[in-house]
Amino acid sequence: MNICYDEKRQIFKLDTPGASMALALADGKWLGQIYFGPRLNSTDFAWLLATDRPPYTPDRHPREAVSFFDCFPSAYPVDNAGDFRESCLSVRTQAGQIDCLPIFESWEILPGKPELAGLPATFGGADDCNTLRVILRDAAAGVRVELYYTAFIQLDVIAQSARICNDSAEAVWLERALSACLNLPYEGQELLTLHGSWAREGMIDIQNIGTGIHGLASRRGVSSHQDHPFLAIVSPGTTQDRGEVRALHFVYSGSFLAQVQRDQFDQLRAVMGIHPDGFRWKLEGGASFQTPEAILVYSDAGLGAMTRTLHNLYREHLIRGAYRSGPRPVLINNWEATYFDFDEEKLLRIARRAAELKIELFVLDDGWFGERDTDSGYLGDWKVCARKLPHGLRGLAEQINALGMRFGLWMEPEMVSENSDLYRAHPDWVIRTATRTPLRCRDQYVLDLSRPEVEEHVWQRVSETLRSADIRYLKWDMNRSLTNLGSAALPADRQGELGHRYVLALYRLQQRLMDEFPGVLLENCCGGGGRFDPGMLFYSPQIWCSDDTDAVERLRIQEGISMLYPLSCIGAHVSACPNHVVGRSTPFETRALTAMWGTFGYELDVTKLSPEEQEQIPAQVQRYRECRALIQTGDYYRLASLRDGQLDAKMVVDARGAQAIVGLTRVLNRPNQRPQRVRLRGLIPDAIYVDSETLREYPGEVLLHIGLPIELPDGDFQSKLIRLVRK
Ligand code: DGJ
Repeated sequence: MNICYDEKRQIFKLDTPGASMALALADGKWLGQIYFGPRLNSTDFAWLLATDRPPYTPDRHPREAVSFFDCFPSAYPVDNAGDFRESCLSVRTQAGQIDCLPIFESWEILPGKPELAGLPATFGGADDCNTLRVILRDAAAGVRVELYYTAFIQLDVIAQSARICNDSAEAVWLERALSACLNLPYEGQELLTLHGSWAREGMIDIQNIGTGIHGLASRRGVSSHQDHPFLAIVSPGTTQDRGEVRALHFVYSGSFLAQVQRDQFDQLRAVMGIHPDGFRWKLEGGASFQTPEAILVYSDAGLGAMTRTLHNLYREHLIRGAYRSGPRPVLINNWEATYFDFDEEKLLRIARRAAELKIELFVLDDGWFGERDTDSGYLGDWKVCARKLPHGLRGLAEQINALGMRFGLWMEPEMVSENSDLYRAHPDWVIRTATRTPLRCRDQYVLDLSRPEVEEHVWQRVSETLRSADIRYLKWDMNRSLTNLGSAALPADRQGELGHRYVLALYRLQQRLMDEFPGVLLENCCGGGGRFDPGMLFYSPQIWCSDDTDAVERLRIQEGISMLYPLSCIGAHVSACPNHVVGRSTPFETRALTAMWGTFGYELDVTKLSPEEQEQIPAQVQRYRECRALIQTGDYYRLASLRDGQLDAKMVVDARGAQAIVGLTRVLNRPNQRPQRVRLRGLIPDAIYVDSETLREYPGEVLLHIGLPIELPDGDFQSKLIRLVRK
């Protein structure tokens, strides 16, 4: 059992292979979270609670209650009760006051991990993990708080969530119900986060943690391109291989808050959860509210170990469905090839050549419905455009299938255009406040999924479209933020529930899709990576990571995203040059070798490539097929970063160290450099490795301690893939 309770010291200790988390009771009442770090065998650190010295515990020294709460490392801090730092819970009672201070009641250990009703979450049985449930109660407010801490047996992961239950007969309102709180001493750590923008997702940022509040958030209704629902508190100078990392990652796809506060006593408190701005959840008597979960990871071996822990966790305990570990098809998508300007013949011309070039799946993107020749109409109706597709989706899919390829389709089910039959019939079905026309973005509105009839309507459109032809892949897109939050159907005192209800309905829709169309490969997308988060990964094993397909930009974006997510879920395509977003031209092979480090595909008109480029495609596809299993399942190591120079280098290696793939890309060439080499990771020191192309042999220890020579052709944007096999 990896969870224990030391009754004498009143300490709960949760152990993972290399880490422990400790929760403790002060005076049998107040639950603190007092430790998260390297694994401890002892529980002899109750003195951390300092109950016999200032700040005094409220029961023994009632006069000093404020100073107690002001510095107590509360496991689930509440508002308006003397803890003035960032809190997790704010309950407004019938009296209109924020008034809830739950105290410890009981605990139990559950084998495995309970599901989180209606929410995506990591999963595991009794062989994988155990869960500590601690119950706190405020008898006066009638509120019970259940805290869940799941400790994984093979991974340095604790999953944390909370359930707030109203045991009284009267309603209360949750104004803040966050998922996780982590208290740590400040020891000079830095804060590592991912930021960005449309076409620039996943940029790594590191900052000092000065006094005060630091962090990031989304109030866009989606997890966002701009701020990623992740933060890591890292020791100064943390590298891929060295340093302590304590990371939090949020399994949620809507607005979020992720903050670290350095307080007056140099204590750190990190909190993570649904963004409280605009959030207000009415909890009727007898009802409960389940927060999403936050994943906590500990590494004492730098960022690389954190990455591999998250990759393993998500591959084994989050991603589901037929494609969880099955090979992902090499696809061709027509978006950058044609945008809205296509017809059946044009698509088939591309598809015929793509089939000859050994591509496995043809994806028809936006523009197949209504009279949609630009991005300003017909969303919501989903009626095939007979002018463009005279034989419908079925006819097109049949012709694609006859070429030996599977067929996939794009939809944006959560949206409606003003110019649509759906909007004309139901203008009240969009998210909007009572007095104002909502802001338009990309000329479209967001459907109010909090209304059951709207959710059902969306399901009917998606499911009938999927049934209308042999569709094996769905790209589920979402191209705008939520604004003007208001629902015509929710009562006034439930308007603050809209954002979260929207996300819950989205999750229900995608769960239904998994249940009723288990053979369809779902790829989520949000104008690129605007909803690239662990929540969506629970439903779709791959996510389109950015609308920027330029190889150099993608190296940066994919570095940030692959720091958290397995390569098997990072949608990556080869596109045409000059690149449509940045206008840069890079070699065709470099584009392919960049897209290899994700779920590989093409997004261009293959017929317009030069004959030499076209000739390269079958070999590129074949190479990906050969590498696919290792890319999808191997241990990933980041070797060099464009944040430090001109070289991007990474590798995957199988668990036994028998095979490895190394990717090298130099962005700008520099004159007169000393011979470059890169030290590899994860290999067996006393094994011999053979480069499968040149047949050159390298001792493992040389690759690990001296490095692999970097021999790239002259010129900018040069890239190489090296496959090493143990002799
Ligand atoms: C945004 C997506 O990220 C693109 O790949 C493409 O599908 C367009 N939407 C289509 O409108």
